[in-house]
Amino acid sequence: MESFVYSYPTKVYFGQGAAAVHLPGILTEYGPHVLLAYGGGSIQKNGIYDEITGLLQAAGKTVTEFTGIMPNPTWAKVKEGAQLARTCHADLILAVGGGSVIDCCKIIAAQAVTDVDLWDLEMVQHKAPAVKPIPLGAVVTASGTGAKMNGGAVITNEESKIKGGMFASAPQFAVLDPAYTLSLPRMQVLSGAFDTLSHAMETYFGHSDRDNVSDEVALAVMRSTVVNMRALLRDINDLTARSNLMWTSAMAENGILKVGRTTDFECHQIEHQLGAYTDCNHGQGLAVIHPAYYRHICKDAAPKLARMAQAVWNIDPADRSEADLAAEAVDALAAFIAECGLPTKLSQLRSKTPITSALLRQVADSVNLLTGGPRILTHDEVYEILTECL
Ligand code: NZQ
Ligand code: ZN
Repeated sequence: MESFVYSYPTKVYFGQGAAAVHLPGILTEYGPHVLLAYGGGSIQKNGIYDEITGLLQAAGKTVTEFTGIMPNPTWAKVKEGAQLARTCHADLILAVGGGSVIDCCKIIAAQAVTDVDLWDLEMVQHKAPAVKPIPLGAVVTASGTGAKMNGGAVITNEESKIKGGMFASAPQFAVLDPAYTLSLPRMQVLSGAFDTLSHAMETYFGHSDRDNVSDEVALAVMRSTVVNMRALLRDINDLTARSNLMWTSAMAENGILKVGRTTDFECHQIEHQLGAYTDCNHGQGLAVIHPAYYRHICKDAAPKLARMAQAVWNIDPADRSEADLAAEAVDALAAFIAECGLPTKLSQLRSKTPITSALLRQVADSVNLLTGGPRILTHDEVYEILTECL
């Protein structure tokens, strides 16, 4: 194993009714001014807004609202939120939403306390910020990303067309009520869950020691995600499945699987740049790219794909070579994506611009090429993979 330091900053309050039970106590630990941040209004339709504002009012907080955080949050929105957090002297930022709201607030919390442009510092100069951010709490309404329990934030700079991960502090607390996810559109539930599956796979396909616990847990997270997604295909409102998926999403991205090893995450890099150009849904973009990516690296990743074939897709190894098992693992993944009704081609993604070969060339050329996975791609290979997804 590689050397590591592991420390866990987020206190998690999990379960139905968790906000009403725990938020009153949590709020006493913070000062009077709260910046309540949310997205495009789903929390006003499903009653979560009324519940949370009621709890804030009962706790005697002065609340300033920051609204309209979009899916794939932009750098411009971060700057707007940071300005508001400054002017309202926020003692706590309470992010109520999915990965987009939480990520946007992670960077708002840091940008609000410094005049240094954090995008320029991190993404252009590649330096880590040295700031003490405003405390952040998350009330999760959409699971999948794992954003509530990690210190990364994915932000899109619309000017430079880069969607990238920024350093951030993880939320100090996260309220995870699976029932809050019941109002999500079906496609978002499934694409969020697919994101979790992707995170476990992307971690597993990094370099690791033989017989290590991280691979075992990653395979278990994949199995559990697939089983619970299939339960949702039978009954989309199955609260037990929603609960399991909410926790597996945290398990996959709270860092515990990543210690002492490298990770792959090249598929995420490709999706992020596709998202930068098209504004496509993250989980749906991953669903399209993953099979093509694994077909491309099938030989390099054969031992791990073969193990995944057995552990996740229940493929009998008898009379099959490692290469057969690896190819069948990719086929099983592609079949599962189709079974879930997730997009399988780029043309099925929502995109703000037509997805042409010329656009894919720009996407491919701007993708970050990582070194922790089974094969280090070239930009031409990324283009080939994307073209296969047309
Ligand atoms: O805008 P609102 O009203 O919140 O509506 C959202 C949005 O339209 C809606 N929604 C959320 N909760 C709902 C609901 N609708 C009805 N009922 C509810 N309870 O769902 C839509 C999608 O929300 P979003 O937050 O964008 O989804 P998700 O949680 O999948 O987050 C995606 C973002 O997270 C990033 C992605 O790249 C993308 O920008 N990621 C963050 C990661 C991290 N920080 O660890 C890792 C991931 O790999 C990922 O890159
Ligand atoms: Zn993801």
